Amino acid sequence: MTAPDLDRILVVGCSDGIGRALVRRLLAAGRDVTGVSRSRTPELDDDAQLVVDVVADDYRARLEALVARRGPFGVVVWCVGVGVALDPADLADETRTLRTNLLAASETAEVVLPPMVAAGRGHLVGLSSLADAGPNPGAPAYSASKAGLSSWLTALGLALRPRGVAVTNVRFGFVDTKMAQSPWKPFLIDADRAAAVVERALSTRPLQVSRPRIAAWIMQAASAVMALRVWTG
Ligand SMILES: NC(=O)c1ccc[n+]([C@@H]2O[C@H](COP(=O)([O-])OP(=O)(O)OC[C@H]3O[C@@H](n4cnc5c(N)ncnc54)[C@H](OP(=O)(O)O)[C@@H]3O)[C@@H](O)[C@H]2O)c1
Repeated sequence: MTAPDLDRILVVGCSDGIGRALVRRLLAAGRDVTGVSRSRTPELDDDAQLVVDVVADDYRARLEALVARRGPFGVVVWCVGVGVALDPADLADETRTLRTNLLAASETAEVVLPPMVAAGRGHLVGLSSLADAGPNPGAPAYSASKAGLSSWLTALGLALRPRGVAVTNVRFGFVDTKMAQSPWKPFLIDADRAAAVVERALSTRPLQVSRPRIAAWIMQAASAVMALRVWTG
């Protein structure tokens, strides 16, 4: 098995929002970038992108083929995410959100992490959210998927660090992309600023990054209030 090259970066969820802003930054810095999304990413050559749905049945096989052709990747950044408001009459979007945000991240790791572990080097970065801090009745699957993703990434990070592989959990508050649909977006940052946070994390390789910090503190306090509400029924 060829060892992963730390200069080869895979961005999953690259056609829009934070992922696309990251692709732009990495290309500007002269990095070798490959992307995965359902739609094309104008900044990437056709050869450097895979157009696929991460919850499709053929996703794993097509990702494996991409790794064989363009990898193995030393750095993988998971930027995929969907989030919709709860419709109690139709829970299909809840299932789709959990599959997309959590299970597809795990399936991706199944393909990209073993070569890193075998070589004793590499970095997996996942974009979770400050929404991981507690249950959100307005978007139950989104908050659950992010709680699961954060816990999974952090535990993987602790498990793999002694083996030379870094895992970083990135938790943002509101970022100005199509995903941020709330009419009220306190401490909003733009996609390029968010991408700069991720780019820096590729150098510093922390276990977790939460931005903006003030939003993280407020969400922590809000989650304590929510825990009390749940505790008291
Ligand atoms: N924006 C925020 O306020 C915010 C806050 C905290 C955390 N986050 C997290 O940050 C990450 C990026 O969010 P964003 O704001 O940049 O969202 P975005 O603008 O909607 O971009 C999401 C990216 O994921 C891709 N994607 C979505 N579903 C996919 C699927 N089934 N298969 C393949 N690719 C898929 C999209 O491309 P295609 O549609 O072309 O597939 C797009 O490139 C997400 O995990 C999100 O939860 C966002």
